[in-house]
Amino acid sequence: MKIPGVKGMNDLLPAEVGRWQEMEQVARELFGRYGYREVRVPVVEHAALYARGVGENTDIVQKEMYAFEDKGEELLCLRPEATAGLVRAFIEHGLHVEGPQKWFALGPMFRRERPQKGRYRQFHQLDIEAFGIAEPAIDVEQIAMAADFFAALGVAVQLKLNSVGDGSCRPAYLQELQGWLRERKGQLCVDCNDRMERNPLRVLDCKVEGCQPVLAQAPRLLDRLCAGCAAHHAAVTGGLGALGIPFTVDTRLVRGLDYYVRTAYEFTSDAIGSQSSVAGGGRYDKLVETLGGPPTPGIGFAIGQERLAMVMAAVGRPVPSRQPELFLISADEAGARECLSRAVALRRAGVACDLDARGGKLARQFKQAERVGARYALVLGEKEVGSGQAKLKDMKTREETPVALADLPDRFRPT
Ligand code: HAM
Repeated sequence: MKIPGVKGMNDLLPAEVGRWQEMEQVARELFGRYGYREVRVPVVEHAALYARGVGENTDIVQKEMYAFEDKGEELLCLRPEATAGLVRAFIEHGLHVEGPQKWFALGPMFRRERPQKGRYRQFHQLDIEAFGIAEPAIDVEQIAMAADFFAALGVAVQLKLNSVGDGSCRPAYLQELQGWLRERKGQLCVDCNDRMERNPLRVLDCKVEGCQPVLAQAPRLLDRLCAGCAAHHAAVTGGLGALGIPFTVDTRLVRGLDYYVRTAYEFTSDAIGSQSSVAGGGRYDKLVETLGGPPTPGIGFAIGQERLAMVMAAVGRPVPSRQPELFLISADEAGARECLSRAVALRRAGVACDLDARGGKLARQFKQAERVGARYALVLGEKEVGSGQAKLKDMKTREETPVALADLPDRFRPT
């Protein structure tokens, strides 16, 4: 009996993996250049971390957590996102005493959502966080880094930006919004009706066609920001303008996690269908305190790797792959022994070199050399082993050139 993979969880096979390696390589290099250091935290945390950190009333906590009792002892959870776990680690290791921290992390996240194109139950994020900086300069810097990252991978994305206020201006707005929404209950969908009681801000995020004309008229938080939030927002938009980073202010942009204050943003692409958000993030100045740490502002964002891979494919970016420079082909038993030992020696010398360990007919070995995209092939048999001379075949032009076996490492060594 075949046992299938789990619904909404994907395999990443060799033909595609080069894309992922490329995005991770660019991320490590670019984020490092911006002063971010990699951290690795567990995939499993206490479920309470997300209830408290992400928010009791979010879809993630209410419907989508892979939570389980660990042998009846503790309620644990596969992480639905990275931020809460990173904040937990920041607090646990007392790192606030060291001053601002700029971190990145990557890996799988788990949400029990209804799978569809671009939405999976296991997905991967490149996650960026900065702790200890309240100033809008870091908001601008992170957005600039995200923009540079997408540019380096050749993908065009749109930046949508909003301010979701903070503890001094949002509560009054939420009350106003809730009252306004309740008066329009009959004109809004079931989800909106449910959300207006639990989490009114999220109603603004509704995508149902029929709700749009009503929601377009909703009171705007951006017009009701306190002086501090308004100044912060102005500094962020001004900073982006100064760097020439295009953006649109989307007053209905709210995020699916409760910890955000002030800056909230998303990068979207119209090349990948309805799940168009490739990255999202924002400021979370109270989260460290909420999770038991000292008052420490924070800001971050996460890039969805599956969606980014889809955009890269949609714009026709080739999948990088490493092909062997040289493929050794054995003509007989002496040749097979020689191929094996030469291949190991060449690899130790830094040469990407391969062979068909099955041996067998020359034609089949040549076919394998072609299949793996080898640039050159070299046949070794008793004769070549004896003379130390062989013919190097260019797999594209089919041209053959004589070569001394002793010269192979120098000829192929990467420069
Ligand atoms: P998020 O908006 O929930 O934010 O997720 C960020 C990105 O992860 C999304 O823009 C999307 O590309 C990808 N993503 C989310 N859910 C799925 C899914 N089910 N399948 C495929 N891709 C998905 C966060 O997770 C925040 N922790 C980001 C953050 C970091 N905020 C501050 N720091």
